[in-house]
Formats: sequence, C-alpha cells, structure tokens
Amino acid sequence: MAVDLLLGLQWGDEGKGKIVDVLTSKYDIIARFQGGPNAGHTLVFNGKKHVLHTIPSGIFHEDKINLVGNGVVIDPVIFKKELDKLQEQGIDYKKSLLISRKAHIILPTHRLLDAASEASKGKAKIGSTLKGIGPTYMDKTGRNGIRVGDMEMADWKEKYRALADKHETMIAFYDVDVQYDLPELETEFFESLETLKSLTLIDSEEYLYQAMKAGKSILAEGAQGSLLDIDFGTYPFVTSSNTTAAGACTGLGIAPNKIGEVIGIFKAYTTRVGSGPFPTELIDEIGETMGRVGHEFGATTGRPRRCGWLDLVALKYACQVNGVTQLVMMKGDVLSGFKTLKVCTAYNYKGTTIKHLPFNIEEQNVSPIYTELPGWNADLTDMTEASQMPKALLGYIEFLEKELELPITVVSVGPDRKQTIVR
Ligand code: GDP
Ligand code: IMO
Ligand code: MG
Repeated sequence: MAVDLLLGLQWGDEGKGKIVDVLTSKYDIIARFQGGPNAGHTLVFNGKKHVLHTIPSGIFHEDKINLVGNGVVIDPVIFKKELDKLQEQGIDYKKSLLISRKAHIILPTHRLLDAASEASKGKAKIGSTLKGIGPTYMDKTGRNGIRVGDMEMADWKEKYRALADKHETMIAFYDVDVQYDLPELETEFFESLETLKSLTLIDSEEYLYQAMKAGKSILAEGAQGSLLDIDFGTYPFVTSSNTTAAGACTGLGIAPNKIGEVIGIFKAYTTRVGSGPFPTELIDEIGETMGRVGHEFGATTGRPRRCGWLDLVALKYACQVNGVTQLVMMKGDVLSGFKTLKVCTAYNYKGTTIKHLPFNIEEQNVSPIYTELPGWNADLTDMTEASQMPKALLGYIEFLEKELELPITVVSVGPDRKQTIVR
C-alpha cells in the first residue's frame, strides 16, 4: 500500500487542514511529518471553526489513527492546550492519537532563543512565529535535542537542565531585551509534559511499516509550504524543516518508493505571512481586497497575510520539486468580482525573461510578467458541482492545468467541509 502526501505549494496557509479533513474518510491513518506549532490548520464543519497546530487534521474522525511523526517538533504546552480543546468538543483522542518517540521537544528556552534571535536581527528578522521552531531544529541537527522517548530515561532531567542552562547563556549572548521568568515557564512545561507522557508513545516508523504491510492507507499531512522549505524555499526567509515531499520520507521513516499520490494544494492567488521576497505581492487596493474577502490573517499569530496574484513560476517549481501528481485549488470564491485576473507566467530576471525560479527572487532581481485572464462575478460558495461553475472560472482552471501540466482534481469554494467540488 502506498502513502499519499498532501503538501502546500506556496508560502503556507493554502488550506491544507480543510482538505486533509475532507480526505480523511478515504484513509486509515493521517500523519504529520514536519513542522510544529508554527502551523495553524483550520477546519470548518457544522458551523464551527477549529484550528489545529501540531495534531493532524484527521483527528475529528474518531475511527481514524492520527500520528505525530518523528520529523515534528512538539511544544508540550501548546500540545496540551490543543488536547484540552478537543476534550471540550467531546473528541476522544486517547486511542486515535499516536506520538513518535523520536519527535523532538520544544523547550521553553527554545522559544526564548527564537525571540532573542529575531530581536537581534532588527529589520532583517525572518518574521518567525516565535514558537521556537528554528532553535529546536538547530538542536536536533546539532545532536543536542531532547526527544519524546528521552522522557522515559532516568537521566533525562539532567539532560534538560544542561541544555536549558546552555540556552540561557546563549540568550544573554544575544544582548537583547527578552524578559522571562524561567521557573514559571518550567512549571507549565513540566505539567504539560505529564499529559504528553500519558499519550500513546510509539516507534512510529515500525508502526507505519507494519500498517502498510497490513494494507492500511496513509495520508501524510504537510505543514507550511514548499517556498518555506529549508532547502528549496526563499532562504533565509523560510522555516527550519523540509516541507517538500522528501520531508515525508525522513519525517515518517517511509521509503521513497512507497510514495503514491502527491497532492499539491494552492490558493487561486498567493499569500505570505512574515518577511521575505514575494514577486507578485500587491500593495494596493486589489491586495487589500483579497486580504479582506479571504480573511487573510494568520491562524497561529493573527498577523495579516500579504496578498498578491498567482505566481505560476513559483508554483511550477513547487510541483517539480515535490513530484506533484494532482492539484487542489483553494479559495476560488475570493477572486469573484475582479473584472480581470492576472497570473504571473514568467519573470523578468535582470533584463531577460525566464520561466524558472532563480537563486534569488528579491525585488531588485525579479519582476513578474503577467498573462491576463477574464474574471467572473458569481457567488461560488453554494456550488457543489463543476457544471455550476462560471465559464471564466473554468477557463482560469484550464489555463492553470495547461501551464502546470497537471490536473486540478478538487476546487474549494469556501472554508466549510461541504464547500468542496470534486472534478
Ligand atoms: P493551512 O495552514 O494550509 O491549513 O491553511 P489555514 O487554515 O492557515 O488558512 C486557510 C484559511 O482559508 C482558513 O481560514 C480556512 O478556513 C480558509 N479557507 C479554506 N478553504 C477556503 C476556500 O475555498 N474559500 C475561502 N473563502 N476560505 C477558505
Ligand atoms: P501552515 O502549516 C504560513 C512562516 C513564518 C515565517 C517563517 C519562519 O499553517 O501553513 P518559523 O516560526 O517556522 O520559524 O517561521 O515561516 N511560517 C508560516 N507561514 N503558514 C505556516 O504554517 C507557517 N509556519 C511558518 O511566518 O515567515
Ligand atoms: Mg495555516
């Protein structure tokens, strides 16, 4: 049995949570493989909105298994808050939620280090979500991290103290104003760890191997987006994990030849939260309208998202790096009402026209070249079938399919589970 992947193709917030929830009924296991509480995945059903940060978006289907893989970084404090919310909703996660022993733990001092690092950068800051993601992955690759499974070892608290002490020295080294009360943070941290320890901790790569052998179907849920990938994104304005397809192999222990469908998800326009280059950004009334109509505010930080036209050069690159086999287009409804739509089909790169993503897409090097397409003026949000779509929307979809040489199999026309059209 193959493992299907669902990955964001832009700078995150494409609508992964919604589509994973919609697709969950087709799978036995939903697994997160990277990132941590920097993610905010929104699900809407039965008139209620739910935001998940670390827990996979299949959790509302109680008959399915939801796995937090080894590539994920877990903040026990945020994790406990997520669990408390699920409990309030009457969701019984005790049997359905599994945690990899190899997942790394975000310590309170990782969050403080994130804040100190960002403060020290001034204007050049990444615009991190300040959840401690960068410092935790640094300790992972630096071979200093603490993993979920370490908590089962006798000496782990000594390991913790040594690492937290080192972090405090590093925070002081930054010489910036970061106020904190570590004993208070630690009280909350250790309390929350007890909750984490009470969950089912497993050797997840072995679990998945056996599940596959037994014919179970698995969907791997990406966090962030391809342009935030540590290797292929707009470095250094990226996150600290591999958000692309290869990340699912390392983040779950799945062999590359076990990957089946790679479902790439994108918005019908583009958004970005945080700093970094964004060639098609619109700092005008059109961008403002996209943000207002699309409610473009971060699900984790509440920050307004920057908005702009769809960038097909970047999207094509993401499809290529991930080996996307089918596409899901989100938020088509937000573009309703624009007379003309623009799509970036090439870049002017230092005076020449190029169609691939170059090393540097900073404003001084790259300006977008647009193709104009007719817009539509219809409320899409009640549509349930492709045959109801306005002609211009079909034209927009077909143009993208031709450019990207991939089928768009699902079109989302609103935040609700039901507002999903399968083509
Ligand atoms: P994720 O991080 O990829 O899961 O995406 P987020 O949840 O951060 O952001 C997507 C936002 O768009 C959420 O507020 C969703 O409720 C909303 N959303 C998802 N699909 C659609 C859609 O087709 N139309 C509209 N208008 N909103 C959508
Ligand atoms: P989901 O899964 C959008 C961005 C931050 C910042 C950069 C680095 O909801 O799509 P980090 O906290 O990872 O060190 O921040 O990455 N970022 C996201 N942007 N959606 C996300 O997740 C993001 N996770 C991180 O804004 O620019
Ligand atoms: Mg999000």
